[in-house]
Amino acid sequence: MTADRPIAVMGAMDSEIGLIIGRIDNKSTRRIGGWDFISGTIEEKPVTAVRCFIGMANSAAATALLIENYNPQCVIIQGTCGGHNPLLHRGDIIIGERVIENCRRETSPLGEGEGSRFESSRPIKAQIPCGNTCERASEIFCDSALMEKAKTVPYSKGRLITGCISCGDVFNRERDVLKYLHSVRGSDCEEMEGFAVGQVCKAFGVPFIDIRVLSNSELYPEEEFDESYASQCQEFCLDFIEKL
Ligand code: 5AD
Repeated sequence: MTADRPIAVMGAMDSEIGLIIGRIDNKSTRRIGGWDFISGTIEEKPVTAVRCFIGMANSAAATALLIENYNPQCVIIQGTCGGHNPLLHRGDIIIGERVIENCRRETSPLGEGEGSRFESSRPIKAQIPCGNTCERASEIFCDSALMEKAKTVPYSKGRLITGCISCGDVFNRERDVLKYLHSVRGSDCEEMEGFAVGQVCKAFGVPFIDIRVLSNSELYPEEEFDESYASQCQEFCLDFIEKL
């Protein structure tokens, strides 16, 4: 039964998952490899939380361990992100409708001294092993039922939008790259785990959602990275978990 299966919730940094872990009742912790999986309940709902650590390999590994060992009903990856959409500011929350990948690229064949041009490279699709087939995707859609529920959670500390989250093992600070990702690929913001989590969830057929709070925007010099915004996302996710 779905109700007995835990809701899995992930965050890459202590500042992004510590508050949620602090709210888990009847905690038990199991270490697998380098990851601590904390199980218990939040408002009577079974939950397993993990600090997955930064980046795609860490978050993919933690997701596979979660799914194999805890059989979660769904996986929530949440935390901070940086802005691509000029309408967004720190404190705004983006509920992922889809997650794209921004670092797996085939570059154009430029010669010595011709420099590097992100804008002229093409995305390479990820391979996602799904049973007898291997799907190829450069975007992964978040579960629509989870997304619809997340949209009903009240949030007063900023805007609440649904949108496109970009992901890669990169922290982009070049304005032309941010502009390209926003205007060509439709990205609203970027982070470093969501696509990897979504890819593993898709391979296992587990519903997933990515929820992010803007903690920095390179488009606005005064909006430097401030990880304290992570608590706003966790509070939002706690309210979301109550609805599941
Ligand atoms: N670019 C990439 N990752 C970001 N994060 C926050 N802002 C950004 C950004 N502008 C998140 C990532 C990673 C950590 C650096 O914070 O998901 O876990």
